Amino acid sequence: MNNDLYDKRTITESGFDEQKSTVKEWSDSLARETGRAPSYFVRTFGCQQNDRDSELAAGIFEEMGFHPAVSPDVADVVLFNTCSVRANADNRFYGHLGNLKPIRKGGRPIIGVFGCMMEQEVHVDTIKQKFPYVDFILGAGDVRVLPYALVETLSDGTGKRKTLDLTTWHGLGDDTSLPVLRADPHRALVTIMTGCNNFCSYCIVPYTRGREISRAYEKILDEARRAVELGAKEIMLLGQNVNSYGNDLRKRGEVDAPTFAELLRDISHLDGLWVVRYMTSHPKDLSDELIAVISREPRVESHIHLPLQSGSDAILRRMNRRYDAAHYLDLVRKLRSCRNGITITTDLIVGFPSETEEDFQQTLHVMEEARFDAAFTFLYSPRVGTPAADWFDESQHEVVRERFMRLVEYQNECSLASNKALEGQVLDVLVDGKSRRDETILSGRTHDDRLVNFAGVLSGSSACQKSWPNEVFDSARIDRGDIVRVLIERANVNSLDGIQIL
Ligand code: SAH
Ligand code: SF4
Ligand code: F3S
Repeated sequence: MNNDLYDKRTITESGFDEQKSTVKEWSDSLARETGRAPSYFVRTFGCQQNDRDSELAAGIFEEMGFHPAVSPDVADVVLFNTCSVRANADNRFYGHLGNLKPIRKGGRPIIGVFGCMMEQEVHVDTIKQKFPYVDFILGAGDVRVLPYALVETLSDGTGKRKTLDLTTWHGLGDDTSLPVLRADPHRALVTIMTGCNNFCSYCIVPYTRGREISRAYEKILDEARRAVELGAKEIMLLGQNVNSYGNDLRKRGEVDAPTFAELLRDISHLDGLWVVRYMTSHPKDLSDELIAVISREPRVESHIHLPLQSGSDAILRRMNRRYDAAHYLDLVRKLRSCRNGITITTDLIVGFPSETEEDFQQTLHVMEEARFDAAFTFLYSPRVGTPAADWFDESQHEVVRERFMRLVEYQNECSLASNKALEGQVLDVLVDGKSRRDETILSGRTHDDRLVNFAGVLSGSSACQKSWPNEVFDSARIDRGDIVRVLIERANVNSLDGIQIL
């Protein structure tokens, strides 16, 4: 390896290009010798930020001459993108990693791990000690180090050396210059900022993703514009707290750096776009300016994800959320009146340390007032290194579990009622593809982010199978990314069923 191409654990842009070319030469020679190009398999845990990083990793693999493999056991390289947000994400990852041990022979598949868990010493040590067959580890989002990791691993050949720890390595450059292979070509995930400054007392993210860094407005707009030109109908803007976009730029002297509301407005004006989504909004930073943009700009989604976490002011204080229930409900009222039919979804944590029945009742009370259209509900999970982990009392497990069931039951009622109100209506749906459960059902999302299933077959399929009676439509015309009209026939808790109307 030419030492000019990296310096002090930083991969330069030219180093990145050269390392990619080196791996590509290896791929090409393998293809010549064996008649088959090498393949990769990326398994992603966690949030959309990780989904996005995996799309970049896939883009880099493709540029290096790799093809996607259908499963890890037939892949030449398996890459895990890990999440640390709750214990079950950690455990699922270790389960999948363990499953690779019997498959691995003669150093193949090459195994790499990156993502949030690799920012924590405890997991880095566990990998080195208990899973020495992992070839390399990288930090969260450090896809620019991937080609270098492969160059080093391939030059070793035997697969017998210790895990190559590159977690302190980083790459230079903006996302716009990276290749990307989008999981859904019609939906472009666009990172507007990384990291988080909020330090909610239960949350590991600020420790794994570091402080907030906003990308330049022009780069974001450029990336979104290019995605729309290539056919994206939906842009999803990503950040742990999108409402604080630009704060760091302004602090560094860029006094004119746009606010999130301005960025969202400008993206929504891109010609050819159907909807722009964004997540996540922190209630303490949701501005009137943003509410005005939501109310005025038709392409801004008719939905907001606004995590409540708890409805008890005492718990919110201990969580370091920096808003109270009254402020939250005030935002809900403003949002509901700023746009007709806007859906509001949330995240809720049950069993935060010291939560009493009274605190829990306050959460239910806020839920009654807010009438969330959907919610992600979590049992509190202690994360080593966060303040709340020291306050955790495991003996409350049964009490907490019972509260959790009550909360889910109530939310299911609200979600169903919200969906029921749409029965009989015709809605525009952006088609995502086949439903996961049934090949003959297509699924998509409405502007207000509801999941809709309807009978149909994607164009390109050999036969038009109709699973539901009495429908007349030319399903061969439907493609991913199409916007179709669907008559809603039945509401479920988490989805709507309907038929396409021509
Ligand atoms: N940045 C986003 C969310 C990031 S994590 C925000 O501020 O809302 C996604 C969700 O996971 C959080 O909203 C929270 O509800 C949940 N979560 C995070 N840490 C958790 C923990 N230790 N235990 C249980 N749920 C947790
Ligand atoms: Fe975690 Fe809070 Fe930051 Fe969200 S805002 S990522 S919950 S610390
Ligand atoms: Fe998980 Fe990291 Fe996202 S901890 S939720 S993958 S930022």
